[in-house]
Amino acid sequence: MTPAPETPLVALSDAHVVHRARSGGLFSRDRVYALTGADFTVAPGETVGVVGESGCGKSTLARVLVGAQRPTSGTVLLRGRDLWAMKPDERRATVGRGTGMVFQDPSTALNRRLPVRRILRDPLDVHRRGTPAEREARVRELMSLVGLPGALADALPGQLSGGQRQRVAVARALALDPDLVVADEPTSALDVSVRAQILNLLLDLKERLGLALVFVSHDIQTVRRMSDRVVTMYLGRIVEEAPAAEVTDRARHPYTRALFSATPGLLDPIDPIPLAGPVPSATRPPSGCPFRTRCWRATDVCAATLPDNSPGTTPGHRFRCHHPVEEGRPTRELVAQATAVAGRQEPT
Ligand SMILES: Nc1ncnc2c1ncn2[C@@H]1O[C@H](COP(=O)(O)OP(=O)(O)OP(=O)(O)O)[C@@H](O)[C@H]1O
Ligand code: SF4
Ligand SMILES: [Mg+2]
Repeated sequence: MTPAPETPLVALSDAHVVHRARSGGLFSRDRVYALTGADFTVAPGETVGVVGESGCGKSTLARVLVGAQRPTSGTVLLRGRDLWAMKPDERRATVGRGTGMVFQDPSTALNRRLPVRRILRDPLDVHRRGTPAEREARVRELMSLVGLPGALADALPGQLSGGQRQRVAVARALALDPDLVVADEPTSALDVSVRAQILNLLLDLKERLGLALVFVSHDIQTVRRMSDRVVTMYLGRIVEEAPAAEVTDRARHPYTRALFSATPGLLDPIDPIPLAGPVPSATRPPSGCPFRTRCWRATDVCAATLPDNSPGTTPGHRFRCHHPVEEGRPTRELVAQATAVAGRQEPT
């Protein structure tokens, strides 16, 4: 059943984030293009996974979505309202009520001097939610929601295990009953044995509370399994958005195919598509298509113009590529294609 069109929870349009380069010194003119021309929406209740190599802008996108980072240009609409046109107080209240964020490392994200009870009460106090007695009740409710025994209410973060700390972080993100939670690598600082527990907790809460979830991870097979939709980023740009069921074999962007070919699936052996050279610097992204320096399908037009965002054959599928991979083309054929091109480019 196709859901009725609703106002997106959050919509970015033509969002850019440009930083002054850290390495260039105080007077450097170098700029880091962390996010470029992002058009992106999240619908109520959906799970969107974000994948891409280190430094491609995933955390920047996540921070822009929850109003933690102001884009250098472009707009962020939260439930149809322009976040950065609001007065600061109103923006804080809107963001605080509507969104929650879970970070990678719970040991640095939580205040080490505060017991769990105070950490969870803090957002309720700041946003003056209910009476003091209601806030205490909400703290107990949040702890039970994320599976933390009430006896831990007076524990400090340092007395908890990594998994318990991340449960506190999830509970805090949920304190004001948001409808969007953004989780940026929520399991990568945890022991492998507790990762699945935290992922299952997020999925379970999402179902029970009807949350939309934006989930950033290096573990792209997990992202694929958890998400309704997968967004691929490369050098600050969203290069493809695809329904999760399509992303492995039916993705059209060469980079998405290469990324997924380099990680083992449950059934498929690894058969990586070879790419030329390293990721270019985010201070000097290539002209035209950002992937063109490494892409085996690149031609002159790829250097000359940025490809439009083209729709795929299924709803919600879009990609930016002049020479997209043919729908359903097997990875092994792409490996052969890329290997042949690499062979022709080897110096003789
Ligand atoms: N405050 C900042 N000042 C300068 N450059 C920054 C700043 N924050 C991020 N960057 C740069 O912006 C780019 C995107 O960073 P971002 O953290 O969004 O990437 P990422 O995809 O989350 O990477 P990772 O997978 O390693 O977490 C990178 O080149 C990064 O070095
Ligand atoms: S536009 Fe050209 S360089 Fe970019 S991904 Fe497509 S074929 Fe490759
Ligand atoms: Mg990151």
